[in-house]
Amino acid sequence: MSKVVLVTGATSGFGRETVKIFANDGCKIIAIGRREKKLEELKSELKGCDIHTITLDVRDKIKVFKEIKNLPSMYKNIDILVNSAGLALGLEKAPDALLDDWEVMIDTNIKGLLYITKAVMPIMIERKSGYIFNLGSIAGNWPYEGANVYGSTKAFVQQFSLNLRNDLKGTNIRVSNIEPGFSKTEFSNVRFKGDDKKADAIYDGLQPLVGKDIANLIFTLSKLPLHVNVNTLEVMPTAQTWAGFALEKDC
Ligand SMILES: NC(=O)c1ccc[n+]([C@@H]2O[C@H](COP(=O)([O-])OP(=O)(O)OC[C@H]3O[C@@H](n4cnc5c(N)ncnc54)[C@H](OP(=O)(O)O)[C@@H]3O)[C@@H](O)[C@H]2O)c1
Repeated sequence: MSKVVLVTGATSGFGRETVKIFANDGCKIIAIGRREKKLEELKSELKGCDIHTITLDVRDKIKVFKEIKNLPSMYKNIDILVNSAGLALGLEKAPDALLDDWEVMIDTNIKGLLYITKAVMPIMIERKSGYIFNLGSIAGNWPYEGANVYGSTKAFVQQFSLNLRNDLKGTNIRVSNIEPGFSKTEFSNVRFKGDDKKADAIYDGLQPLVGKDIANLIFTLSKLPLHVNVNTLEVMPTAQTWAGFALEKDC
């Protein structure tokens, strides 16, 4: 029986590539994002595959639960959940960052992920089977300037993934927190609020990770034997390393 895979953030980046790899493997896909046009494009690109698209803002708690409850019967038994919807807004240091941006990141990366997970979990628990992938980030493990609230939301996702695994013991449900580093998707275009020149410039001269790299990892983990659970997977491009500690003299 082909698996049912629900992917949030399916309109771009990691989510979009994850949809493609599972769809081409014969899975039935539930693709979620806010941009209807992008979902339609994805559907026509994957003509012949089973794709159910839902135009949905994961921050809309009521609609999240309603959509999951009302899934068409062939998509009801979700086997794999990939929580990829998320964003960073701004790269200003905390004193200059916008409170509104902080709230959007918290509402999307934390609360949105929680709503989807809470709505999907009972389906997996009932069938004593399932795999939840959360998109954390190296920003949840390591500080960098301007990552203030974004990094903190990803630290939440990391700890939530571990706690979830503990709470789900005895259910056979696997949980992995995927923690990518520097990756070229629409992430920076969103972070810099449509300043595409600025977004493109940060990838100049090095080979970042791309959506396919992360999709391949998720797909590979999903194929591991059922008794194997990778708790966290931190992955960076070879060109990315750490900056070390900063020391401020005479301050
Ligand atoms: N790229 C990186 O460097 C990087 C590194 C580590 C972790 N991550 C994480 O990986 C995940 C995917 O990011 P990406 O790099 O693939 O970025 P991306 O290309 O910008 O994709 C983000 C996706 O999230 C969706 N999304 C954002 N807000 C949403 C909302 N309120 N409701 C529903 N969907 C929403 C977007 O779709 P719509 O706009 O259509 O809603 C889009 O499909 C994010 O959680 C991000 O934090 C990214």
